[in-house]
Amino acid sequence: MSVSRFGCDKLPCVDVENVAADVEKVLLTEADIQRRIGELAAEIERDYEGLDLLLVGVLKGAVMIMADLSRALHRHVETDWMAVSSYGSGTRSSGVVRILKDLDTDVIHRHVLVVEDIIDTGLTLSWLVSNLRSRGPASVETCTLLRKPEAAKRPVDVRYVGFDIPNEFVVGYGLDYAEKYRNLRVVATLAPHVYG
Ligand code: PRP
Repeated sequence: MSVSRFGCDKLPCVDVENVAADVEKVLLTEADIQRRIGELAAEIERDYEGLDLLLVGVLKGAVMIMADLSRALHRHVETDWMAVSSYGSGTRSSGVVRILKDLDTDVIHRHVLVVEDIIDTGLTLSWLVSNLRSRGPASVETCTLLRKPEAAKRPVDVRYVGFDIPNEFVVGYGLDYAEKYRNLRVVATLAPHVYG
């Protein structure tokens, strides 16, 4: 196995090389992402010290951050998943949110931390938070790896933000275009010819 399979600090990731013609620019390297997730995990550990914690990942995009964030925590944590629909197959939000898969866990009296890959318009997360708050949890907070400017202007109270990024369509680290590119280790913009 070549060294580039393990890190992207100096060498380009193998997975980016594999789709090099589709990628315009790498915004966040694997090292950037892992470093920030470590910092977020440390904050979460401090904030939830002595409290039980349920991480709720939003499928499918949050799979990567859920896997890395949960493993960066030096404490017990439970995980559950929801799937909601907010986008069609294009690059714009439809504004429609519906539950495709609900939690298996009862969140009553639990401390819930919703984990997202990206907040774009903020519609999905604001809807999800109010839905979960109606179920009688002890608390509902949110964590996202990426946040776009439009969401930063909306009344979505995000407690943990990995990175504020420009208003560009990004893929990788869970984020897709037409279900591809989720398995890139980096976050990158797509070349216009891919979606043009
Ligand atoms: C993405 C992302 C968030 C949502 C954010 O999910 O994972 O859930 O869009 O957009 P918003 O802030 O404009 O509401 P998507 O619906 O693309 O599903 P996926 O995670 O399965 O790709």
